[in-house]
Amino acid sequence: MAKVKEEKNSTKTKTQTYKNYIGGEWVKSASGEYFENLNPADATDVVGRFPKSTKEDVDQAVAAAKDAATKWRRTPAPKRAEILFKLGEILRDNKEQFTRDMTREMGKVVKEAGGDVQEAIDCTYYTAGEGRRLHGFTTKAEMPNKYAMCERQPVGLCGLITPFNFPMAIPSWKLIPALVCGNTVVMKSGEDVPLSTINLVKACEQAGIPKGVINVVNGFSEPGEALVGHDDVRLISFTGSTDTGRIIAEQCARNNKIVSLEMGGKNAIIVMDDADVDNAVEGSLWGAFGTSGQRCTASSRLVVHKKVYKKFVEKFVEKAKKLRVGNGLDAKTEVGPVINQQAMDKILAYIEIGQKEDKAKLMCGGNRLTKGEYKNGYFIEPTVFADVKAGMRIEQEEIFGPVTCIIPFSTLDEAIDIVNGVKYGLSSAIYTQDVNQAFYATQELYTGIVYVNSATIGAEVHLPFGGTKGTGNGHREAGTQVLDIFTEWKSIYVDYSGKLQKAQIDEVEI
Ligand code: UN1
Repeated sequence: MAKVKEEKNSTKTKTQTYKNYIGGEWVKSASGEYFENLNPADATDVVGRFPKSTKEDVDQAVAAAKDAATKWRRTPAPKRAEILFKLGEILRDNKEQFTRDMTREMGKVVKEAGGDVQEAIDCTYYTAGEGRRLHGFTTKAEMPNKYAMCERQPVGLCGLITPFNFPMAIPSWKLIPALVCGNTVVMKSGEDVPLSTINLVKACEQAGIPKGVINVVNGFSEPGEALVGHDDVRLISFTGSTDTGRIIAEQCARNNKIVSLEMGGKNAIIVMDDADVDNAVEGSLWGAFGTSGQRCTASSRLVVHKKVYKKFVEKFVEKAKKLRVGNGLDAKTEVGPVINQQAMDKILAYIEIGQKEDKAKLMCGGNRLTKGEYKNGYFIEPTVFADVKAGMRIEQEEIFGPVTCIIPFSTLDEAIDIVNGVKYGLSSAIYTQDVNQAFYATQELYTGIVYVNSATIGAEVHLPFGGTKGTGNGHREAGTQVLDIFTEWKSIYVDYSGKLQKAQIDEVEI
């Protein structure tokens, strides 16, 4: 992504310039510098210029969030929710525009971008409902004339760091629960998709979220690092790569921050010998190549029973070859570009590893598309490797692109071992008509999500989302489980006996 100095007489007069959002004002970065956000389907199309923010900007954003904290925390939760319901309506009313903006800056096909905005709408309505719940509990005290209860309290100031692949859904998974729980936030937008974060935040402004409750800084690693290192930030919620997540967790440990991580995946679909093969092929295509494979939940491994292996591979490869690659704004496109040059280089390097190092069988794809309409974009052909063995690098490492591998197996236990034999644990799936095998797999697959007769993608917002092992650190987003990230428990004891009673020490007379 090109970085440019702000110039008054810039020749790119039509390119819109955006600002940070701090304390309810749209402001420039202290650096005075901007970066260009490019359309991955056509890198000559500049989506906008966004502030290249610094530590100073983060300091201001944190100060604004701190100032707004008490008032927002004391705003009754049902009132906070009322504003969020309004936000849901604004997002719904602007869905079409936000969808097109997203496809232009991120590349995913317009139908999927619509799903991304819809996920933010769903998350907003669902989570806003918590404003009238946020349930705590009461219990019995061990002393007479003493009352015991538990309630959720906001954690305080939250730093939210979001990735490029779900430009509105993932920020909403963090922002909406943080707000309904009574926290104030500083968001660092994904550097490839800042417009979608700005669209979300403008909608929040319009809905009437008070000044300072939400603050946004755009830019690269400097504002992210400043947020993670800031003493006044109590919590960091991060979605991104496992390597970056681990560094963030280490830094958060130094000043005792709460940290919630949602990271990589190497998800697999098991196709049993009794599966409806056509249905499994459809699911695998969608799971592997939806969002050009740039989902943490992507079906990057297809583990197929030897009895149906040949049939599955033939059908799958034939269909993969026919997928229409192109600009996501074209309604006929099925697979869009990948996000940027760096991502493309990494994916192509993995395709080379698959061929040269792993010596897997390349069945289709494998190349960057460069001619005609592809000339200025980051397009990679849907790529399929077959006869892949457990342990190969393309079978173990997250590629995050339109690349999948097919692995043969003989028994269900062997398949489960293959699925579980990676360092990640986000999502898994099994295609079978046998209820016993299906249930057995749901119990034995060590992932945060398991699907039966569906691909590994497409989680819904009212169920917890997250994974085991290298995918996360034990937290779950979405559902009501996300409340455990954005609140801390407070136990309240009320002794109305009128005298000193010592728990664990005084004998209670019956
Ligand atoms: C991600 O890939 O990081 O389950 C999120 C899905 C989407 C969210 C994916 N609802 O595929």
